[in-house]
Amino acid sequence: MRTRPERSRAQDAWTALWRDPQSRLACIGGAPEIAAALRARWAAFAATLPPCGGSSGGGGSSGGGNSSSSSNSSGPIRVLDLGCGVGAASGALLAARGGRDLALTGIDFADVPAPRDVALTLIPGTPMESMPFAPASFDAAISQFGFEYSRTHKTAHRLARVLAPAARFAFVVHHAQSSVVATNRARLNAILAALAPAMRDAFLAGQAFALDAKLQALRLGHPGDALVDELARILPLRARAADASARAAAWHALEASLSPELTILEAMDSCCVAPAELEGWLGPLRQLGAVAAVSVLRKADGAPIAWCIEGRRSA
Ligand SMILES: C[S@@+](CC[C@H](N)C(=O)[O-])C[C@H]1O[C@@H](n2cnc3c(N)ncnc32)[C@H](O)[C@@H]1O
Repeated sequence: MRTRPERSRAQDAWTALWRDPQSRLACIGGAPEIAAALRARWAAFAATLPPCGGSSGGGGSSGGGNSSSSSNSSGPIRVLDLGCGVGAASGALLAARGGRDLALTGIDFADVPAPRDVALTLIPGTPMESMPFAPASFDAAISQFGFEYSRTHKTAHRLARVLAPAARFAFVVHHAQSSVVATNRARLNAILAALAPAMRDAFLAGQAFALDAKLQALRLGHPGDALVDELARILPLRARAADASARAAAWHALEASLSPELTILEAMDSCCVAPAELEGWLGPLRQLGAVAAVSVLRKADGAPIAWCIEGRRSA
């Protein structure tokens, strides 16, 4: 179970990421093929939603928010986006519906800046595990690389409460064998190797030659990694030039600057789902309702991108 300081470290790390446009791109996957596959995935889900109002509720207000309404037959379809970030999944869903008939609410525990290009009611600073909405406030829930980062038992339990009976859900979940996870795992390993105790000790002791040797080994192990190349360039200079306290301060600054990324990469590495884990991982969602379909979103060459999980809350 995650402790409070761990959670706030993760919140701070994601907040830092959403404030840095460069890192944002890396998070969303960047690669056009993956982005297109995700858009197509949301278009397919959008096509399964009923026209305006939904079959999952009765009559009532539009939008999720803190509404006390428990049903919605005539207004827009109320969709909750879990771990929404800047609204990539919501935007794709809305685009597929021609920009109409959806009332989208996104929650994210990071302090995410309001999206400029997606009509999404964003509620930042909100952990999925708490979901501060009235019962049956939503006709559908979506998540793109969000739900799996949470304590899924708790999130599924809360979701059962805020979804209307028979509301649909569709989640895109990190596949442990995807290229997104592989790329991020390589980066994680590079950072862990760069910050390894032996590297730190050589740097702090000002052992420039020992440090050079370790950095060369690091470059061989992580060819083409820009961070590793940069460290191989600057650390020996700093180790040679600085006195002990300056070296300690420089190492501390390096650890602090890499800490948010490390936190996110470790979270991704532990929340992704391997094929052998899938059945057990689906347990909390099966308590929420029926899991109707599980498939793998793939690249043109067959490599997995993500799990696609769809279902309905019990009626
Ligand atoms: C990989 S990003 C995905 C963002 C967005 N769905 C997208 O596809 O671009 C994961 C998001 O989940 C959020 N997150 C992680 N754990 C969370 C939790 N327990 N409650 C709410 N949000 C969470 C992070 O802040 C981050 O914005």
